[in-house]
Amino acid sequence: MRVMKNSVYNFGAGPACLAGEVLNQIKADIPDWYDGMSVMELSHRLPVFMDLTQMIEQDLRDLLQIPEDFAVLFMHGGARSQFSAVPLNLLNKASNADYLVTGTWSDLAYTEGKKYCQAHCVATSQGNQFTQIPLKEEWTFSEISPYVHYTDNETIHGVEFHEPPNCQGKWLASDMTSNILTKPIQFDNYGVIYASAQKNLGISGITVVIVRKELLGFAHPYTPSILNYEVYQQSQSLFNTPPMFCWYVLGLVLKWTKQQGNCQALAQKCLQKSAMLYEVIDSSDFYTNPVYKPHRSRINIPFRLPNEALETLFIKEANDLGLKQLKGHKALGGCRVSLYNAMPLQGVALLVEFMKAFEKKYG
Ligand SMILES: Cc1ncc(COP(=O)(O)O)c(C=O)c1O
Repeated sequence: MRVMKNSVYNFGAGPACLAGEVLNQIKADIPDWYDGMSVMELSHRLPVFMDLTQMIEQDLRDLLQIPEDFAVLFMHGGARSQFSAVPLNLLNKASNADYLVTGTWSDLAYTEGKKYCQAHCVATSQGNQFTQIPLKEEWTFSEISPYVHYTDNETIHGVEFHEPPNCQGKWLASDMTSNILTKPIQFDNYGVIYASAQKNLGISGITVVIVRKELLGFAHPYTPSILNYEVYQQSQSLFNTPPMFCWYVLGLVLKWTKQQGNCQALAQKCLQKSAMLYEVIDSSDFYTNPVYKPHRSRINIPFRLPNEALETLFIKEANDLGLKQLKGHKALGGCRVSLYNAMPLQGVALLVEFMKAFEKKYG
C-alpha cells in the first residue's frame, strides 16, 4: 500500500509512478540504509554498495534472461546520451548507419546520429504523422552499416514494435526506454539495447545499457570516456561517482518486478491493461486513437476527445478524482495514458469507468 495519498493513480509518461512497496522501502531506508547512514552518503567503493550493484545486475539478467555474451552497464545521461553513445561505440570506422524513424524519439536519435556519420533513414512514417510503422516494402538499407537503430516503443506517438524489425544481418540498436521489462526479448539480433530508468526501472538519473561483448573495444578515439562502453565494462560501471540513489532505487524496483512474475507474466498484464483502454476508445465515437491497430503501443496510449475544451475538462475532472497526469505530450495535445508495470489493474479499471461516465455526461 502507498504511504501517501493511496487513492492517487499516476498515469504520467515519465518520470512515472513507483509501486507503493518501493516507496515505503525508500522511506524506511532513507535515514539508515547501512551502518546508520543513508545510501546517498556512502562511498560507492564500499563492499556493501558494490555487492548491491552486482545483485542488481543479476536481477536484471534473471528478469530479461540476458545471455552471458552481453555486458550490462549502468551509465549516466539518460537515453538521449545513448543517441551519441551508440554511433560512437558501434560505428567502428564505418561511415554509415541505418535509422528507422517511427516517432519523435527515433527521429531525435537519427538527428543526433547525423553528427557522427552519414545516418541513413531506412524509412519514416512522418508523412502520416507517425501513426504506424512504415510498410516493410518501403524500407531501404545502406550497404555498409554496422547497426540499425530503432525505438521499440514510441512514448509520445504510442507506436510499438510487437516483434523486432528485420535488420538485414546488421545488429539492432534499440531504444527500449518505455517498454523494457514489459515482454521477453529475443537477444539474437541485438547489438545494444538501452533504456533510461524513469519508467519501468525506477527514477531518472541512471541508464541501463545491454551490449554484446564482441562489440566492445572499437569506440571512436574521441569518444568521451563517460560514453565509452568498454570503459564502463572495465570499471564495472564505477568509472566516476555513480548516481547511487537512482541505482539503489533501480534495485528495489527490480526486486518488486521479480515478485510480479517473469517477462511473460508482465507482458500478459500489459496486454490486459491496454486492452481495457483500447476497448473504451474503440467502442466510442467520443474518444479516438489514430494509431494503426497492429502497431499500437501497450504502454503509452494517446487519445483525443471531440474538442480541446472537453479535453481540458476531462483532465481536470480526472485529476480531481485522483487520476493524475493524463495530459498529452505538448507535440500532440489531447490526452495520454501510460501503463507501466507499477500501474495496477485497479487504476486502469477506475480510469475506464471514469471515461465511460464522462462520455455519457458530455458525449
Ligand atoms: C523512447 C524514449 N527515448 C528517449 C527518451 C529520452 O530519455 P531521457 O530523458 O532519459 O534522455 C525518452 C523519454 O521519455 C523516451 O520515452
